[in-house]
Amino acid sequence: MKLLDEKVGIVTGAGGGIGRCVALALTAAGAAVVVSDIRQAAADETVALIRQAGGEAIAVVGDISEEADWVRLVAATIERFGAVDILVNNAAAASFKDRDILSMDVAVWDAAMRINLRGPMLGCKHVLAAMLQQGGGAIINIASGAALTGQLSQPAYGAAKAATISLTRSVATLYGKQGIRCNAIAPGLIMHEGLAAFFPEEHIRIDSDNLLTPSPGKPEDIANAVVFLASPNSGFINAQVLSVDGGLLAHTPGYAQARALGQGSVGYVGKPKAES
Ligand SMILES: NC(=O)c1ccc[n+]([C@@H]2O[C@H](COP(=O)([O-])OP(=O)(O)OC[C@H]3O[C@@H](n4cnc5c(N)ncnc54)[C@H](O)[C@@H]3O)[C@@H](O)[C@H]2O)c1
Repeated sequence: MKLLDEKVGIVTGAGGGIGRCVALALTAAGAAVVVSDIRQAAADETVALIRQAGGEAIAVVGDISEEADWVRLVAATIERFGAVDILVNNAAAASFKDRDILSMDVAVWDAAMRINLRGPMLGCKHVLAAMLQQGGGAIINIASGAALTGQLSQPAYGAAKAATISLTRSVATLYGKQGIRCNAIAPGLIMHEGLAAFFPEEHIRIDSDNLLTPSPGKPEDIANAVVFLASPNSGFINAQVLSVDGGLLAHTPGYAQARALGQGSVGYVGKPKAES
């Protein structure tokens, strides 16, 4: 018996990156999965990978910011698998055009909110009806470390992700007594093929210097957390934000520079001044 046997999940943005890995992990844990993405070919590719690994999946193309697409997606899920027990609101768009506030283009701001906030809200709205009828379900919203800190870039993306955390708490607060668990994951930098083109090496090095782990994060790290939050093993966890970021946000701002100076425990590092 596997952890998620007989469960049915929807994963948005499962055509690549973290979402593909999440879909593979949910099916490896026994769930049947609806792989959804705005890119049909990418969704089909994920389904092929899942089937190759012995899992069960179908692809349903859709834009998470379009309500009609959610109606179609949930209907296709129920028609094929008879239920929806897990929703992973993973799809998002980081345009990298929201560089600062002074130069913020309102269209860029609105697009960030439309996809990264309206999308997950519509997902919650449309799976909730089915989940409530079934007596419960688990929703996992993929937020970001950018939701928890001020950012030197991408303020629109960060604000949408912060609001997604608020949405998470509201869904759990409104429907928790009816068996709905809604939690968020805040990933740190998770490199994968699709991201490599956007991130300068220097940024990756700074991130890596500030991790409290020997190695950087991988899509599997997020997928493992999703499987846990989707499973009965997390049955008493609701309305929470789980940072899966190698401890990036857990330490003092000078951490990386202090480590570079040497190990120690007084102030940041080294011996007290009087002893030196
Ligand atoms: N990778 C990271 O470092 C990182 C860090 C923090 C948070 N996150 C979050 O994790 C999630 C996955 O990140 P990723 O790096 O795999 O992203 P990605 O950009 O590589 O993949 C996103 C997927 O969503 C799909 N998509 C985009 N817009 C869509 C829409 N309107 N409707 C349906 N599908 C759409 C894309 O086609 C793509 O397959 C996102 O929510 C992201 O914000 C990622």
